Amino acid sequence: MFVDNCPSSEPVVSAVSATVAVLACIPAPFERAASRYAERRGGAGDDQPPRQQTGILNVGRCEPVGGQNRNRGRRTQRLLYTLAVEINGTSAIVTGGASGIGAATARLLASQGARVVIADMQAERGEELAHEIGGAFVSVDVTDTAQIEDAVNTAVDLGPLRTLVNSAGIGWAQRTIGKDGEFASAHNLDAYKKVLAINLVGTFDCIRLAATAMSRLDPTDSGERGAIVNMTSVAAFDGQIGQAAYSSSKGGVVGLTLPVARDLSAVGIRVNTVAPGLIDTPIYGEGPDSEAFKAKLGESVLYPKRLGKPEELASMVVELITNSYMNAEVVRVDGGIRMPPK
Ligand SMILES: NC(=O)c1ccc[n+]([C@@H]2O[C@H](COP(=O)([O-])OP(=O)(O)OC[C@H]3O[C@@H](n4cnc5c(N)ncnc54)[C@H](O)[C@@H]3O)[C@@H](O)[C@H]2O)c1
Repeated sequence: MFVDNCPSSEPVVSAVSATVAVLACIPAPFERAASRYAERRGGAGDDQPPRQQTGILNVGRCEPVGGQNRNRGRRTQRLLYTLAVEINGTSAIVTGGASGIGAATARLLASQGARVVIADMQAERGEELAHEIGGAFVSVDVTDTAQIEDAVNTAVDLGPLRTLVNSAGIGWAQRTIGKDGEFASAHNLDAYKKVLAINLVGTFDCIRLAATAMSRLDPTDSGERGAIVNMTSVAAFDGQIGQAAYSSSKGGVVGLTLPVARDLSAVGIRVNTVAPGLIDTPIYGEGPDSEAFKAKLGESVLYPKRLGKPEELASMVVELITNSYMNAEVVRVDGGIRMPPK
């Protein structure tokens, strides 16, 4: 019925054992620092605003440790610096940033100090959001290379371009053949090509141009130049009836994640991909009918039984950008859903 994308438990167990063995060997101050870091990320310190830094150093997101033991605080701070990439003072491009997941991501990046370029075809919404978050709107159809270059140049003018989020995308639902046995009723081939042109080719075009600009930057203290996050879909793995075009395009995005991450590793750019499940965005339309439809869809989610919020996706996107050790991965954010055939 569907492809179970979860890894077997065996490598997880061996990875945990290896981590325990390594932890047993590291000097105590670093162990303490690591545990303080873990506390800070999940604990009471999280309600503190991120430390505002100027410049482009990849310094930690957590506030500096002050007070009782300044030396220990400085050591901890140094460790944090290597664990989390700072986006404050840098620029970012979010394609599809005028709506849904892209808009939530643009807001979150801006709240952490990035100057965000909204690269979208929806001028009114895009300009409004750019104004709200102190970014810029560039009218971009991701099938148009010259327009993507405009967005990249705009971002470079705003600050060092360290982030690209590819969220622009469209859907299409049609079965591969019609019911009447006629060639004419088979899947619309122009529609198939259009979905691939936007979701897959457009994503790759944005990557190759933004990564070229990133490659010209000086690396940060940890050697990084930038990070890229693409948007695929659980339909890349659990494509439903009528999703040939959409699943082909999103499967392509999954497929390019590893080789592009390998290509860009030479210049210190990480590449990850997020696979959303069913997320409450304008992609499902607006109004009472669509609310009823979304409520029904939510029942099929494993837990929690609701659609995801764009902010929940944005949170994962920003984690993938700021976590220096995340690379070449596809992460499902889907409440555990596995889509049935229809
Ligand atoms: N919402 C979901 O349930 C869901 C599930 C899985 C994957 N996704 C993927 O997440 C991404 C964001 O979807 P969303 O739900 O936020 O949708 P959305 O419709 O709210 O936003 C998509 C944005 O992309 C823009 N866009 C479309 N074609 C474009 C083009 N050619 N050039 C530039 N911009 C273009 C639209 O104008 C829109 O602002 C998409 O790639 C989508 O396939 C969404």
